[in-house]
Amino acid sequence: MAQHLFLLVSVVTAWLVPSVLGTSHLMFGNSSELMDITRDGCGETQLCVEVPAACDPVVSGDCLFASIVTGSPVVNNGRNLSISLRGRSPGDSPGYIAIGFTANASVGSTMLFICAQNGSQFRFFTRKQYNNDTGGSLSPTERIVKNILGKVNGSLIQCEFIVTDFNATRLREADITTVVKLGNGMLDGSGPGPFNATRITDPLNLSQVNGSIPRPTAASPATRVAAFISPACLLLWSSLSWSAAMFWM
Ligand SMILES: *[C@@H]1O[C@H](CO)[C@@H](O)[C@H](O)[C@H]1NC(C)=O
Ligand SMILES: *[C@@H]1O[C@H](CO)[C@@H](O)[C@H](O)[C@H]1NC(C)=O
Repeated sequence: MAQHLFLLVSVVTAWLVPSVLGTSHLMFGNSSELMDITRDGCGETQLCVEVPAACDPVVSGDCLFASIVTGSPVVNNGRNLSISLRGRSPGDSPGYIAIGFTANASVGSTMLFICAQNGSQFRFFTRKQYNNDTGGSLSPTERIVKNILGKVNGSLIQCEFIVTDFNATRLREADITTVVKLGNGMLDGSGPGPFNATRITDPLNLSQVNGSIPRPTAASPATRVAAFISPACLLLWSSLSWSAAMFWM
């Protein structure tokens, strides 16, 4: 019990410490260089996710739009995601739009990147939302984000940023398959209020501009592996499995 308590305290401490560092994880660029965000390049050079379906953020005021360009993997550094967001915060009071990533929409948590307007001011936050929390409440979390650019015009928010080292140490395509959430919320005195997800995608492969997940080829992986295993290896493998089975009995 004491040991569990210790573990819990360590986890909570490890989780609280980064928030002390505050926005040192966030690196802002020169926002006057931010061009208006459009659908140009959707499905060709960038993966686009929006709500309502296929909406054009330039034409439709209630379109919440995100585009993602995924960089090439670098060993031990994962990939860079260059993300653009454009949409309106709910109502005229200070509020935000956000994009989130989670491996599984029903368990674990979602890492949220939040672009907000506080009157005429642009603000940026990272937060964590537990997927089983239907109220959408947010927890502080820190994440390095680079080259953050943003501009606001009333409730209209446009922003761009680079999430570095996405899934570092995992380089296979399958490992950048993620559920994408889009949504919005209000700002209160202490930061972003509860997140209201207006779109939750099926898992998308971020390295494909159409988000498609590579389909397994005709032969199942097991069959292909077996074809390369010599009978001697198979014998070794089965005796190892047998020892493992004995071990667990
Ligand atoms: C920001 O970018 C604009 C437009 O390129 C430029 O005129 C301005 O000098 C830049 N500001 C800074 C602080 O670099
Ligand atoms: C990620 O982006 C940063 C900032 O633009 C750049 O310095 C870094 O080299 C990029 N890393 C990869 C893995 O592409």
